[in-house]
Order: sequence, then structure tokens, then C-alpha cells
Amino acid sequence: MRLVVALVALVGALALVSAGCGGDDDGGGSAETSPATTQTTGGEAGDAANGEEVFASAGCGGCHTFAAAGSSGSVGPDLDNAAPSFDAVVTQVTNGGGAMPAFGDELSAQEIRDVAAFVSGS
Ligand code: HEC
Repeated sequence: MRLVVALVALVGALALVSAGCGGDDDGGGSAETSPATTQTTGGEAGDAANGEEVFASAGCGGCHTFAAAGSSGSVGPDLDNAAPSFDAVVTQVTNGGGAMPAFGDELSAQEIRDVAAFVSGS
């Protein structure tokens, strides 16, 4: 129950943040409409901030404990302890494995890289 409340609060907070960013004409300018990924131009990197939203909306926290997301799921491994690499997250999320569903059809390749950046911290 506390997890649900936390997730709802998180999603609500994110919605407020994006509404604030998109609605204000406070000099943000063209940056607001460009993709959040700034690390490379090749689209290889993930954007961890967007990955946090993907983590919440895809329901990763329902199964995984991950401190940065404030989640405490216990179906899958604790991601703070597992500390998977960027590539390991991409592979696991794309293909699933064990009791974890595949997200390759649900999430775009970019969303998967974003959530991998968030989870791996890279
Ligand atoms: C229905 C529950 C469930 C959901 C939802 C889920 N996972 Fe998992 N996840 C698991 C389980 C169970 C495992 C262990 C799989 C195994 O035994 O091989 C796992 C494994 C992993 C691993 C490998 C951890 C390690 O030990 O290296 C990563 C990374 C991971 N999940 C990330 C995610 C991300 C990111 C999401 C959201 C896009 C997600 N998971 C959604 C259940 C879930």
C-alpha cells in the first residue's frame, strides 16, 4: 500500500514538473521541445531523468526495490544490491528473463536506454 501511494505521488510530482516546464514561458526556449538526451548525438546514451519516469510508468518499482526511485518491490532482485551495468539492464528489460516480463514491445529502444541509465547510474 505504501508503495502504491509513493508511486502515485511520484507520478503526480513528475506530471506537475512537466506541466510546469511545458506551460511556462519563462525563457526555457527551444530546449523544452528538444529530446532530453544530451550525452551524445548518436542516440546511444540514455537519459536518466527520463528513465526515472519510465521506471515509474512501466511499473518496475512494483517488483524491484530501488532507492533512487523510492520503490520497495520484492518480486525481483533489489536493484541497489544488484547494481547491474547499463548493458545488463538493456538486455534484461528488452528480453525479460526469469519471472520478469519483456518490455521490448512496450517501451521504445530509447526508453529502455533511459531506464538503463537511471538504474545503472551511468
Ligand atoms: C513482474 C515483476 C517485474 C517487473 C514489472 C520488472 N521486473 Fe525486473 N526482474 C524481475 C525478476 C523476477 C527478476 C529476476 C529474473 C531472473 O531470475 O533472472 C528481474 C531482474 C531484473 C534485472 C537484473 C537484475 C540483476 O540481478 O542483475 C534488472 C536490471 C531488472 N530486472 C530491471 C527492471 C526494470 C528496469 C524494470 C522496468 C522496466 C523491471 N525490471 C520490471 C521482476 C520484474
